[in-house]
Amino acid sequence: MKRIVVYQSSTGFTAKYASWIAEELGCEIKEYKKMKTDELISYDMVIYGGWIMGNMVYGYDKIKALNLKNLVVFGVGMSVSNEEIEKRIAEQNKISTERLFYFEGGYNPKKVGFLKKMMMNMIKKSIEQKVEKTSEDIHMLETFQGADNTKREYIKPLVQYVDERKRYREIGCEKEL
Ligand SMILES: Cc1cc2nc3c(=O)[nH]c(=O)nc-3n(C[C@H](O)[C@H](O)[C@H](O)COP(=O)(O)O)c2cc1C
Repeated sequence: MKRIVVYQSSTGFTAKYASWIAEELGCEIKEYKKMKTDELISYDMVIYGGWIMGNMVYGYDKIKALNLKNLVVFGVGMSVSNEEIEKRIAEQNKISTERLFYFEGGYNPKKVGFLKKMMMNMIKKSIEQKVEKTSEDIHMLETFQGADNTKREYIKPLVQYVDERKRYREIGCEKEL
């Protein structure tokens, strides 16, 4: 089964997860920008990773338009990972929760452009102004200073899911995604 991890990363966190996943699965990895459509559709399974911008998985719209049969998606943002955020991202991007995985990345203000940093600073301010801050708010404020919160172990559920799909296919009872 020909599998590939394809990704788009602005500051490096998604790229890090993409290489961990490819390493774990022993499959190819390539940046989306360096791929042609013909090449993409030649794979039996594509694992697409994009960074999160305003709850959207960056670049997913273009991948979705290709109607790939076996597409698994992961999004990388600075929010703490929990069921609620995974559900929100799945809903907003119209991806079934079964094949969408969310991983906590981080924030690197040094690599974020001026306009984007302004947007992020507004979000930071609105959290700072909250009278009662949750532990997640405090974590976000710490991350805004610049932090790498990636952990290799976070990819486990995705790797397990992808390997399961491969086994289904090998025994001839592949379930449509
Ligand atoms: C303009 C902008 C919007 C963002 N929106 C979100 C968001 O909605 N949710 C989130 O969790 N993180 C958000 N982030 C944080 C990034 O998704 C996070 O830094 C991510 O780890 C970047 O991944 P990358 O290094 O692969 O580019 C945003 C960052 C920027 C610059």
